[in-house]
Amino acid sequence: MAEKKKRVLILGCQGRLAGSLLKCWSKFQEVTGLARPALDVSDLKSLPRILDDLEFDVLVNGTGLTNVDRCESAREEAHIVNALAPGVLAECASRQGARLIHFSTDYVFDGKKREAYSEEDTPSPLGFYGTTKLEGERRVLEEDTRHMVVRVSWVFGPTKPSFADSLIERAMREDRVEAIEDKFSCPTSAEDTAKWLEFFFDPSVEGGLYHACNSGHCSWREYGAKAIELATEAGLKLRTNQVAPIRLADMKQFIAPRPVFSMLSTRKLTAATGMTPRHWHEALREYIFKKYAPISSPS
Ligand SMILES: NC(=O)c1ccc[n+]([C@@H]2O[C@H](COP(=O)([O-])OP(=O)(O)OC[C@H]3O[C@@H](n4cnc5c(N)ncnc54)[C@H](OP(=O)(O)O)[C@@H]3O)[C@@H](O)[C@H]2O)c1
Repeated sequence: MAEKKKRVLILGCQGRLAGSLLKCWSKFQEVTGLARPALDVSDLKSLPRILDDLEFDVLVNGTGLTNVDRCESAREEAHIVNALAPGVLAECASRQGARLIHFSTDYVFDGKKREAYSEEDTPSPLGFYGTTKLEGERRVLEEDTRHMVVRVSWVFGPTKPSFADSLIERAMREDRVEAIEDKFSCPTSAEDTAKWLEFFFDPSVEGGLYHACNSGHCSWREYGAKAIELATEAGLKLRTNQVAPIRLADMKQFIAPRPVFSMLSTRKLTAATGMTPRHWHEALREYIFKKYAPISSPS
């Protein structure tokens, strides 16, 4: 007998990550997406009223105030969206006996460790974005053991341009592009994330805190250089195939402090799902070829 489709409700469905999840999961599940203005998670009073009228097995929170510099000045909004709203969403999901999948970030760490962070490592955020995300994590996990917090890093996917896309687009227009050489993390494919997380639609699988990213790690510059290399291979005409190094300290326009080294270990995810995330090179290749090869092919 065919397995019954899960009813999945995705909030913030026009976001980079949530948009990809919506697209991927819609092939196999009964997926509904909500975004502003229909649903504003900062309206904490209306949230339960709206969600209690909807039926779902899995609630996915893809919303977030994700501009780390803006979080330093828009503190009240960041606190409501990143910290308080996840707690309210967790309560709404619990009332329906549903699982909440909520996303967090490598920015909960200070980046002082020189190897990959595990879920056991103590967070110590440097900026207000990480501080609010950490509070959001706590509120979700304290509400119900079936809920999940999934920390991701450097997300790329087809819904919305990310660092790799911006660099490729700059290299199409300009003779020189640069990227930071002394900040390290792991790129995360939004489409791969959809595959890993579908496993958790089964309510008997344990919830909790998970790290989810592709395997391997790199500096921002190495990430950019790979994107440029793959775009060239895909046939795009770029004005440069070099990515010049710059240093984090030279980024005077950055307001928020950022962790220098925030690689995430996915050992727990692999133990739970049996899936080992593929290397980010492979995931980025697939993404870039799918997005850019059709542009470069003669029609
Ligand atoms: N992208 C990354 O590299 C990265 C890294 C680490 C962690 N994460 C985490 O992953 C999650 C998703 O990130 P993302 O990259 O997909 O971010 P994103 O593209 O910025 O998407 C966030 C979405 O949240 C929506 N939103 C913001 N405030 C809202 C509100 N008050 N009510 C309803 N919707 C609201 C935004 O809508 P509008 O378009 O209307 O503003 C946007 O569509 C976040 O929890 C983030 O912290 C992302």
